[in-house]
Amino acid sequence: MLTDLPEPDAEARVHSEKLRRHVQERIESAGGWISFADYMDMALYAPGLGYYSAGAAKFGEAGDFVTAPEISPLFSQCVAGQCAQVLGEAGGGDILELGAGSGAMAAEMLLELERLDCLPGHYLVLEPSADLRARQETNIRERAGSLADCVRWLDTAPAEPIRGVLVANEVADAIPVNRFVLEGPDSSEIGVALRNDKLRLEARPAGPELVQALEPVRALPGLAGNAPFQSEISLRLPAWLLTVSAWLEEGVALLFDYGFSRPEYYLPERSSGTLRCYYRHRAHNDPLFWPGLQDITAWVDFTLLAETARDAQLDVLGYSTQAHFLLAAGLDERVGRHVVETQQLRTEIAHGIRQLIMPGEMGESIKVLALGKGDVTVPEGMTGRDMRSSL
Ligand SMILES: C[S@@+](CC[C@H](N)C(=O)[O-])C[C@H]1O[C@@H](n2cnc3c(N)ncnc32)[C@H](O)[C@@H]1O
Repeated sequence: MLTDLPEPDAEARVHSEKLRRHVQERIESAGGWISFADYMDMALYAPGLGYYSAGAAKFGEAGDFVTAPEISPLFSQCVAGQCAQVLGEAGGGDILELGAGSGAMAAEMLLELERLDCLPGHYLVLEPSADLRARQETNIRERAGSLADCVRWLDTAPAEPIRGVLVANEVADAIPVNRFVLEGPDSSEIGVALRNDKLRLEARPAGPELVQALEPVRALPGLAGNAPFQSEISLRLPAWLLTVSAWLEEGVALLFDYGFSRPEYYLPERSSGTLRCYYRHRAHNDPLFWPGLQDITAWVDFTLLAETARDAQLDVLGYSTQAHFLLAAGLDERVGRHVVETQQLRTEIAHGIRQLIMPGEMGESIKVLALGKGDVTVPEGMTGRDMRSSL
């Protein structure tokens, strides 16, 4: 099934084999089976070995996937405009970016915030991958020059909660998920086991924590039948949001991700889930393919995020699509600002905009959740289409 995927070179295969042995040892010490979330955690983040922790190219043409900041600087410029609104109303503050990837968004945001005369006190970055952090330092310096001086990398939580804006683009969809199957009254969890020394996906009866987390899913209309329904849920996502929301004293959090509200996520017709793997710009669904060499991701349940946010005393200021967000955040004016000197540049800009806003591309699949703490106004980008009632 995966024969059309490019073969990794010898060095990459050796790297993947080291990670596979690391997973194997974990499975053996756990008695023969680990949850899919534990496997995904190791495949993406095992120190020095995981996809995000080691040296793979990951982003852009030479990597495996592209994200909005890599597609067009217009994305980050629009987000910067929203940060300027929040910082302007508060009379200043900081920005905290979680999971900054190549650093493209930070560099472009700083350039735009300088243009808007609204630079933050500090632009903080929390990046768990040492490899990516080193790349971010170089890229931000190359693209934004001395503006890089206001960037500070955090190893852990900020010493004090910040006042300002917290941004995360495609971070929640990189948080490990648990995979489950509902069949009649039974719930099982798919994890990873060993068979003849090879990694295998294997289901076991779900434990009490997963069964409880699945209650709202079971309650959805349409899933009551006996046909097997397989999908994923992140048991770690609420804890992640509770942690990061405590880092915001007053201000706005903007979370961008592939995702749905819960009733859309767990539709009977989506009965094989949303988990996808990305390897050299090919999407497929085998998470055991060359562990450590590919990205593994699943769409985000935005209802779960919104419920957790309310528990953390955050206001859900808005929920919208990326397309509506960008248009309401001033995409048109920013396009108009470009002096387009060549036909090639014109084509590149138009192609980038299409990818950002077309419904079949990122425009509708990526959603934006805006959360607020304290006395803040709704960011303009959230006023284009209010989809909160779908959460
Ligand atoms: C799909 S990439 C997105 C990168 C970047 N935001 C972009 O849009 O290009 C996911 C990023 O999230 C980071 N990440 C994963 N788990 C994280 C966590 N718990 N906190 C902060 N960053 C995290 C990864 O190291 C990586 O930089």
